[in-house]
Amino acid sequence: MATQRSLILVKPDGVNRRLIGRLITRIEDKSLKIVGLKMLRVTEELSRQHYAEHVTKPFYPLLEEFITSGPVVAIVVEGPDAITVMRTLMGSTNGRDSAPGTIRGDFGCSRQMNLMHGSDGPEAAEREIGIYFRDEELLEYSTSLDSWVCADDER
Ligand code: RTP
Ligand code: MG
Repeated sequence: MATQRSLILVKPDGVNRRLIGRLITRIEDKSLKIVGLKMLRVTEELSRQHYAEHVTKPFYPLLEEFITSGPVVAIVVEGPDAITVMRTLMGSTNGRDSAPGTIRGDFGCSRQMNLMHGSDGPEAAEREIGIYFRDEELLEYSTSLDSWVCADDER
């Protein structure tokens, strides 16, 4: 167990469907902490950087078209095992297969328009956070609720 940070995006479908608030609420309800937040348009270059592992795959052109099609909200989330916790909270890639109760399972039924991105491991998280945020855009702060999120030996 460790405190981790994960790079989350509310993808263009989430923004266009006016779901930003409800999706961020799911993160906060889980007791994870938001330490960075901004709205931006993903350029083709940024998409190639972010999805470097997928650039050569057959589905990449459609993925790039989608992710650059409208604004996204980029969020850095911090908390105990935040990377895995966020992946579990979001559900599997294709909304048609995602379990009810997960974000993708509750809000959609598409493989492409799956509402959110979440880093899939510690190396990816570090790389992706560095792509979207400068160090000074990430806030370190504590709140009086921190001691109620989990026990000291779980951090
Ligand atoms: P993400 O990176 O966006 O959080 O999604 P993920 O980890 O669940 O899925 P990943 O395998 O990393 O794929 C990235 C995005 O590419 C689209 N995709 N299309 N047509 C296809 O076979 C296919 N496979 C993946 C999805 O939009 C997925 O979110
Ligand atoms: Mg992925």
